Amino acid sequence: MKNIWIIANWKSNKNIQEALDWVAKVGPQISKEENLKVIVCPTFSALSEVKKAIQVGNFPMLIGAQNLSSFGIGAYTGEEPAAILKQFADLAILGHSERRKNFHETDEMVAKKVEQALANSIIPLVCVQNEETPVPKDCNTIAYEPIWAISTGLTNTPGAGRADTPEDADKVAGVFKQKYGPQLEIIYGGSVDSSNVEGFITQENIAGVLVGNASLDAEEFLKIVKACEEI
Ligand code: PGA
Repeated sequence: MKNIWIIANWKSNKNIQEALDWVAKVGPQISKEENLKVIVCPTFSALSEVKKAIQVGNFPMLIGAQNLSSFGIGAYTGEEPAAILKQFADLAILGHSERRKNFHETDEMVAKKVEQALANSIIPLVCVQNEETPVPKDCNTIAYEPIWAISTGLTNTPGAGRADTPEDADKVAGVFKQKYGPQLEIIYGGSVDSSNVEGFITQENIAGVLVGNASLDAEEFLKIVKACEEI
């Protein structure tokens, strides 16, 4: 049975109390299924409390960071190194298009972040924007997120802010598998919600979803998880 990753990317949202309220609602409802990987990615400042809440509740969830430093421990003011983040994070979203756009992250920086993550046993989840985005060495999990499909409409192109079709996303995922090998797991992201999630996760080459806006609401996120559990 293939893995199904359901990853909540909260971006710069939720203070600690809001984060804990969400975990208290979502955590007890998730079934313990080996292939279901539910991961919540809060802001850095909420990681510690969210981790504690998940441990205390014994919820079958993992925790992700939304970024990490391309450097190690040392004199890098304002950066969060993987060697410290590993206390909390099982996974890190790397090279998200919002970071590439707003913080000028390059493929080279993303490759360095992947190295840091792997050296610290954090799963790197590299966001690729199209077939041309390189997948760094030894990275086995990627998220295909066409920039125009992100719900906040990062581009001004017509149709921006709407999900890709499951068929198209599957085709792109297939191209990545051909290029990098069958071990690569490809997650789709961009305007996923409870009404369209099933279409994506039932595609042959797609192993889950990265959910931004629709993950902020506990009820809506639970609907997405339930839809995946029923497959
Ligand atoms: P969205 O965001 O679900 O709000 O489109 C996805 C993402 O940016 O990871």
